[in-house]
Amino acid sequence: MSSSVKGMRDLWGDELRWFRRIEEAVHRVFGAHGYREIRTPILEYTEVFKRSVGDSSDIVNKEMYEFLDKGNRSVTMRPENTAGVVRAMVDHKLLVNNDPQLFYYMGPMFRYERMQAGRYRQFWQIGAESFGVASPESEAESLAMLFDFLQGLGLKSLSLSLNSVGTPESRPAFNAAFRNFFDARADSFCGDCHRRIETNPMRILDCKNTRCQEALEGHPTMVEFLDDASRAHHSRLKELLTALDIPFVENPRLVRGLDYYTRTAFEVLSSDLGAQSALLGGGRYDGLVKVLGGPDTPAFGWAIGLDRLAMVLKQLHGEAPFNPPPLLIPLGEAASSKALRLARQWWALGLSVQLETRGCALKKALGSANRMGVKLALILGDGELEKNAVAVKHLETGQQEEWALEDVPLKLRERLSQKP
Ligand code: HAM
Repeated sequence: MSSSVKGMRDLWGDELRWFRRIEEAVHRVFGAHGYREIRTPILEYTEVFKRSVGDSSDIVNKEMYEFLDKGNRSVTMRPENTAGVVRAMVDHKLLVNNDPQLFYYMGPMFRYERMQAGRYRQFWQIGAESFGVASPESEAESLAMLFDFLQGLGLKSLSLSLNSVGTPESRPAFNAAFRNFFDARADSFCGDCHRRIETNPMRILDCKNTRCQEALEGHPTMVEFLDDASRAHHSRLKELLTALDIPFVENPRLVRGLDYYTRTAFEVLSSDLGAQSALLGGGRYDGLVKVLGGPDTPAFGWAIGLDRLAMVLKQLHGEAPFNPPPLLIPLGEAASSKALRLARQWWALGLSVQLETRGCALKKALGSANRMGVKLALILGDGELEKNAVAVKHLETGQQEEWALEDVPLKLRERLSQKP
């Protein structure tokens, strides 16, 4: 056994550096909007996902890492985090006072999916969920945060694909009209769609089969069947998005792969990703808190695929900057003791420095430093010890100079402040 599990990979080097940059921006931007972080367990009881994501969804049917634990309870490695966050809201009774509650999360999710570019079995999501507010204004606020965040990372070619999938009350009328439409051209639809017409007709709109997509030409849309309140909600959201300069395209075939959505549903595509890959998706899910045992609470949120976001940023900006700290290389035992004490003083001052502890020859230490991408070597030999100084070698240029030990913190700080 020498490879990782299919669809699961190690994160390190440049990819991890992009992850870290994105994660830092998440804490900063989402925190500034009043969102608080939440971390829920990776394992939940299987029921949590079956009841929320939906029995007829691909995620629940085909993609869950679901197993019995040693106590014979069915548990599942979370395929998404909205259900877990809602379960936590209910467990901690955070929704009983009807106050707005804003939370964000980051972490790994697990779906047993067919392998494709940018699609993994362990992947990461960044998500934001807001509870307790039913207004289109709360959706506009959340989407403004999302766009500010993505644009702040340098993403420009983003398109918001928007739909309203109605409510459980408005859906039967749509389903009936859609059934008539389907029956009139049933031969043109695939076997999966024939199953979907019985279990969840609106999923047909999302079928990847090109023949089905052609047969859908002129289909009844969910927006046509909205009740008055949902229609007004949809119009107001579009008005707010326009006022906020958030460009969107209405997409009557957008249904999303999870069953909990009501009214607003959306995805954001980046032209830097493959044709069918959404960078993120989300929407309103006003019924879910109640389904999981909490009070009737409106909710709205979305989740970004962090793997995909990191991929786009790398395509746009290249490698994430990598600056390993200077390497302090002591030569001999006396210098080693001194170097340990010095490095500790510098670390205590908040400086970054890496210590060569192999007691090896200078040539070997410099060879490793070059391979690690270190730019500055601080060399402490007997001569330097006597002078209370370090020899400083700039590895990119080969230039060498000497710094008094007491000046090192200042000099290192100056170098840092010159970095972009
Ligand atoms: P989702 O559309 O299933 O929504 O996933 C959101 C994003 O996660 C996708 O747009 C994609 O970028 C990423 N993603 C999904 N599966 C994979 C995979 N196998 N490999 C890489 N990336 C993937 C949700 O999960 C909802 N919980 C979003 C939400 C939050 N709705 C309301 N609140």
